Amino acid sequence: MEKTSLISLASTPNAILLLLALTIFQEVQGIGVNYGIIANNLPPPSQVAKFLLHSTIINKVRIFDANHEILHAFSDTGIEITVTIPNDQIPDITNLTLAQQWIKTNVQPFIPSTNIIRILVGNEVLSTANKLLITSLVPAMETLHIALVSASLDNSIKVSTPHSLGILSNSSPPSSASFRQGYDIHVIKPMLRFLKDSNSPFMVNPYPFFACTSSNLDFAVFRVNSGLFDDYTKLKYTNMFDAQLDAVYSAMKVLGFEDVEIVIGETGWPSMGDSAQIGVDTTSASDYNGNLIRHVTSGEGTPLMPNRTFDIYVFGLFNENLKPGPICERNFGLFWPNMSLVYDVPIMRNNVDVANNHSKALLSIMIALNFLIGFWA
Ligand SMILES: *[C@@H]1O[C@H](CO)[C@@H](O)[C@H](O)[C@H]1NC(C)=O
Ligand SMILES: *[C@@H]1O[C@H](CO)[C@@H](O)[C@H](O)[C@H]1NC(C)=O
Ligand SMILES: *[C@@H]1O[C@H](CO)[C@@H](O)[C@H](O)[C@H]1NC(C)=O
Ligand SMILES: *[C@@H]1O[C@H](CO)[C@@H](O)[C@H](O)[C@H]1NC(C)=O
Repeated sequence: MEKTSLISLASTPNAILLLLALTIFQEVQGIGVNYGIIANNLPPPSQVAKFLLHSTIINKVRIFDANHEILHAFSDTGIEITVTIPNDQIPDITNLTLAQQWIKTNVQPFIPSTNIIRILVGNEVLSTANKLLITSLVPAMETLHIALVSASLDNSIKVSTPHSLGILSNSSPPSSASFRQGYDIHVIKPMLRFLKDSNSPFMVNPYPFFACTSSNLDFAVFRVNSGLFDDYTKLKYTNMFDAQLDAVYSAMKVLGFEDVEIVIGETGWPSMGDSAQIGVDTTSASDYNGNLIRHVTSGEGTPLMPNRTFDIYVFGLFNENLKPGPICERNFGLFWPNMSLVYDVPIMRNNVDVANNHSKALLSIMIALNFLIGFWA
């Protein structure tokens, strides 16, 4: 209501105030999560969708396939949904008929009531070392985009694919990073060209957890630490997440595509693991995910990308009890299956009400100021 009344008072000072007000509203930015379902004890998707909508600030969800029950459950929630074409289907998607068929089956029945914003072609495909998948990747992305164009969906639905940081040949110091030789020219460069032309983001899955040792735990979870100095740029890094993102940015810059948006497809920290593992406990998970959420929504950016905010998808929504591998793999969740938080993290809606109330108070002051300016002018 306040926004409408502001818009109706059209003049230059009003326009400036409106911009300011909108900026403040945007500061209360949502968070994304990866909704994995490798478990036998999770609540039904309809209950999950209601919970996320009403109780959390989570407003973006990425799923690892195009599960129809989940897509249906998120209808009329406004929550942004990213779906994934599993790796083994990538070669098929290079065929336009099959790409169109995929969209007809997995997207068109659910839009616009389900807010599908992005289709990911596979996940961490370059780290599979599977030649057929890797050579099919960019052609499949291009074909899928053509299929979206033919259905007039290319403006509302973007195509991308997330990468592990294994695509970098070196990443320290951040400014010296580049993509692995071979992949850089043959896969990443044409992919960045495609993403730039289609106004889609480059997606990466940085996990400071997997680069964490006993000597850099504080750096990895955003605690007070001595930091990392980049001798080439003279910039200081106070956390590993920024260092990893700036390494990605530097590698993109080598190929001339540093202006393509970066989205964090996955990042997270487990709350439990084998006793030999470093920093695998609820305190570290709470520090990492909590500080991460505050950091990326602060608008501070990174040393090489000052003042930027990033869309970020935390891994993951639930602890998934049937995931194979070490104990930590089943303990990346923010929530238990009963929807209670595994540890404290600023993701519940109450925290946001405070911020929203502050915004509203500020907005009221602006409206008052606005009338005064109008009165004197
Ligand atoms: C694409 O897939 C369709 C349907 O399976 C098939 O009929 C057609 O031959 C394929 N086209 C190519 C170029 O492989
Ligand atoms: C980032 O924001 C700060 C504070 O508003 C400003 O001084 C600085 O010039 C901005 N930097 C860039 C690169 O936009
Ligand atoms: C939810 O599940 C967790 C893990 O099983 C348990 O520790 C917690 O007490 C449960 N919370 C509620 C409210 O039932
Ligand atoms: C925000 O304001 C509403 C009323 O305007 C109030 O009911 C609510 O308790 C406030 N929330 C917080 C967290 O202060």
